Amino acid sequence: MKTFLRILKRIGLILLVILVLFVAVVYIRADRTFEAPLPEISASRDSAVIARGEYLVYGPAHCADCHTSRDQRADVLAGKHVPLHGGGYFDLPFGRVYTHNLTSDATGLLSFSDYEIARSLRYGVAKDGHALLDFMPFHNLSDEDLTAVISFLRTLEPVKYEVPKTEFNFIGKAIKAFMIKPIGPDGEVAKSVTPALSAEYGKYLANSIANCRGCHTNRSLATGEYTGPFFAGGFHMPVDDKPGVFVVSPNLTPDPETGHIAKWSEDDFVKRFREGKKIPDSPMPWGPFSNFSDDDLRSIYRFLHTIEPVKQVNGPTIVVEN
Ligand code: HEC
Ligand code: HEC
Repeated sequence: MKTFLRILKRIGLILLVILVLFVAVVYIRADRTFEAPLPEISASRDSAVIARGEYLVYGPAHCADCHTSRDQRADVLAGKHVPLHGGGYFDLPFGRVYTHNLTSDATGLLSFSDYEIARSLRYGVAKDGHALLDFMPFHNLSDEDLTAVISFLRTLEPVKYEVPKTEFNFIGKAIKAFMIKPIGPDGEVAKSVTPALSAEYGKYLANSIANCRGCHTNRSLATGEYTGPFFAGGFHMPVDDKPGVFVVSPNLTPDPETGHIAKWSEDDFVKRFREGKKIPDSPMPWGPFSNFSDDDLRSIYRFLHTIEPVKQVNGPTIVVEN
């Protein structure tokens, strides 16, 4: 009996040591930093470049949908060019993630170099070296468009707005320690992608600027990893302040039976974007997307009708889980 107890005690002690080591490793690794090249992207003062940046920021790239606080929501939904002082947040299963102040104040991007902003957007490595969670789809943005975005950000009036620090619980720290890595471009990034009325340009918009792919593809809420075919929808997105409620993205592939827009005409598609948000809890950035040009929407429609049809039924748009 005595030896049995002694063995039990020893096993308990070993388990305790392993647990303490695991916790220590999680805490140390959760703060690990990454390296990535600093793209040589510098802001320009050319008014055409700044205007292109403004269109992207408040339209297709919808920075305003995330880099604003909740009291600005009505203006964002109306597609207005609101101050981008950040403070928006996402409640994920493992913590609350806040968005940065993008104005040139000390509480914003004042201390960021153009290169550092470019590195965050292209390589997913933050100024402080942490791996950014994959909320932003701009890794393959061309040099020219990245320059345009940063040039426009540099014209924003400074707004003093202190954004709280992102907090992770222990599981979040463990995910950060072992699973979250910076996401970078797919290959060599184009110097320039010229806007055109074409499926090819639509693909660039849908994948690398407007994040249609990021939301209309099933993915893991914990790591952001894609778990389903591109554009087949089915991603369950949590609704702010309504735990257990999710809005599900529809299938945008041209499957005749299950494709949500398979039977829509190009004009129907453009018209839908002019009508704005209809499902109040929808996370789709309908407000900023109201600033899309007709041609850009037509290009996206053409692209969506060239992709491989995927037969996938995603069920009801609103799901309540208990
Ligand atoms: C879907 C929401 C979303 C959109 C759209 C979005 N952001 Fe972000 N952004 C975030 C979140 C969330 C973070 C913080 C991520 C983290 O710390 O892991 C962030 C962080 C940043 C940072 C700070 C990076 C650093 O080095 O710390 C910059 C700069 C930035 N975003 C710029 C932009 C710009 C410019 C746009 C539009 C072209 C944009 N964001 C669009 C959600 C978004
Ligand atoms: C932040 C996530 C998100 C992004 C980004 C997003 N969507 Fe959606 N989308 C959704 C969700 C969720 C729904 C279902 C709720 C709704 O209809 O608003 C939806 C609905 C739709 C619908 C059906 C609307 C209707 O009334 O039947 C279309 C069409 C659509 N999205 C196209 C797009 C295109 C094209 C893009 C890129 C330009 C895009 N979405 C970007 C999440 C997103």
